[in-house]
Amino acid sequence: MSTDFLPIRGYDHVEFYVGNAKQAAHFYEKVFGFTPVAKMGLETGCRDRASYVLQQGGARFVFTSAFGPDHEVTRHVALHGDGVKVIALEVGDCESAVREAKSRGATVIQKATAFQDEQGTLKTGILRYAGDTVFKFVERTGYRGPFAPGYKPLTPVGRPRPVGIAAIDHMVTNVYLGEMNYWVGWYAQILGFTQLKHFSDKDISTEYSALMSKVMENGTGKCKFPINEPAEGKKRSQIDEFLEYYAGPGVQHVAMNVPDICAAVRELRQRDIDFLRVPDTYYEDLKSRIGAIEEDYAELRELGILVDRDEDGYLLQIFTQPMQDRPTLFYELIERHGCRGFGQGNFKALFVSLEREQERRGNL
Ligand code: FE2
Repeated sequence: MSTDFLPIRGYDHVEFYVGNAKQAAHFYEKVFGFTPVAKMGLETGCRDRASYVLQQGGARFVFTSAFGPDHEVTRHVALHGDGVKVIALEVGDCESAVREAKSRGATVIQKATAFQDEQGTLKTGILRYAGDTVFKFVERTGYRGPFAPGYKPLTPVGRPRPVGIAAIDHMVTNVYLGEMNYWVGWYAQILGFTQLKHFSDKDISTEYSALMSKVMENGTGKCKFPINEPAEGKKRSQIDEFLEYYAGPGVQHVAMNVPDICAAVRELRQRDIDFLRVPDTYYEDLKSRIGAIEEDYAELRELGILVDRDEDGYLLQIFTQPMQDRPTLFYELIERHGCRGFGQGNFKALFVSLEREQERRGNL
C-alpha cells in the first residue's frame, strides 16, 4: 500500500450553522444527552456570533449562529436551513495537510493558521467541499484548552444524561445527479482516500426512487464518507428532495456508534425522538436472513431497529426523522458487530419507509 500523504487521526468535530445556537445546544444536551464543554460569544469578546461545543464520547458537535443579517452564518442558514457547515478532521500536522491537499488540487478557503491563547496553539486550515460545506483540518496537539482559542469552558447545569453515543461512525453527503464520481475522485485525489471495495455501487431502487452510493474511507478506515446521488426513478427520489430543500449538496446524515443500540433507542424514544418506522413485514423473514445475533429479535422489532450482515459480521442501525422542518439532515445510530458495511441489505426496506414519509410531506 502506498504511504498516506495525509494522515488523519479521526473526526475532530462537526460544526452546524443554525438559526438559534442556544436552543440547538439545549436540545442536543437535554434530548441527545451531549455534555456542554465550551462556549464562545459576547461574554468571551466575540461580537458577531455565538458557538456552543458539546460532546458525548468521541463525538463533538459545535452549534453556531450569528447576530447580523448579512453574516456568512446567517446567510448560510437562510439558504440551507440548519445544517452541517464544517466536517473537521484531526491531523498531526495542519500545514502539511493543507499543503498536500492544495498541491493535489484542493480549493483552500483558509490556509493553515495558528490561533493562540494562554492554553496553547491550535492550528486549522479549511478546504472547499460539496455545495457550501467545507472540510477543516485541526491540529490540536499544542492546545490544552476545552476546544479552541476564544472559547471558555462550560459547565453543564444539572447532571449530563448521555444515551451512549461513543463516536462518529460516518457522514453522508448528497450531491446532484452526475456529481458522485467527481467527489469520489476528489476524496481519492485530494485526501488520499480509497473506495470501500466490498460496497456494491449498483443502484438502489424502489418502485419510485433510486439512488447511487459510493463510500470513501481514509487509510486507517476510521473516517468513512458515503456519497449519494439521485438516480432516475418513476418519481422524485429522497435525494432530490434533500437537494431541493437544502438548496444544493450537503450532509444528509451523521451516523454515530452506540455500544447498546436498544438501550439508546429506548431512552431517546422516551425523550420524544422520532425514528423512521420500518414496515412490519421487514421483520417477518429477518431471522432466517440474518441468523443468530446477540440481541432479541422481538426487542428489535418493538424498537424498529434494522439488522444487516456481511462476511465480517452484522450491524444494527436506526434512522431518525429529519431534525428540522426542512426534510434535510437526520441521524443514524449504529452498533457494529464486525460488519464494516452501511446496511445495504436494509436500503430497500428503508427507502420504502422513507418514501412513505416523503409522500406524507407531499413531495413524492
Ligand atoms: Fe449511514
